[in-house]
Amino acid sequence: MSLIAACAAGLLFNGAAWATEAVESPETTVDVEMLTLLKNNACLNCHDISVQEKSKQGDSAASLPFGPPYLLVAQRYAGNEAAFEELVYTVLHGSNPYGKHWKEEAAGIAMPPMVTVSEEHVRTMLTWILKLDEASAQAAQAAVNAQPK
Ligand code: HEC
Repeated sequence: MSLIAACAAGLLFNGAAWATEAVESPETTVDVEMLTLLKNNACLNCHDISVQEKSKQGDSAASLPFGPPYLLVAQRYAGNEAAFEELVYTVLHGSNPYGKHWKEEAAGIAMPPMVTVSEEHVRTMLTWILKLDEASAQAAQAAVNAQPK
């Protein structure tokens, strides 16, 4: 993890409330409004943003996160417009339990339909997710980890 990003995240998230403005660190920007949106819609209950240490240890399903880390989602689908529309559909309606295509990276069999989230918010979240790179994913994950559960 980047020390600078971690420090910025620590300063920002030292209280129970999420700060409401994005903060520039020398390395990358943590979009706290986006993290709030993801958190409030339960996405972070099942998904990490970066690939965390726990998900790298061992190779049993128990060591995997429940859903695929968003950085891996970005690496798989970035720039693929057709995939973007399919992902909007998957988040709103759930994934096919027989299609489990994150076998190696996620322990969950399928994603349930997210019935309370608006399509507009799903598009906003997916646009952000698909732009993640290693640095921005790590900074965002540090901010999430610094937040009280
Ligand atoms: C109850 C746990 C759970 C919640 C809550 C959840 N997901 Fe998922 N998500 C999963 C699992 C499990 C998969 C992997 C499904 C598979 O292997 O096909 C997944 C897959 C995905 C994918 C990749 C789908 C694909 O076809 O490759 C995206 C994008 C995604 N989730 C976004 C979200 C967003 C955005 C939210 C919040 C609105 C969210 N998820 C909430 C469990 C969850």
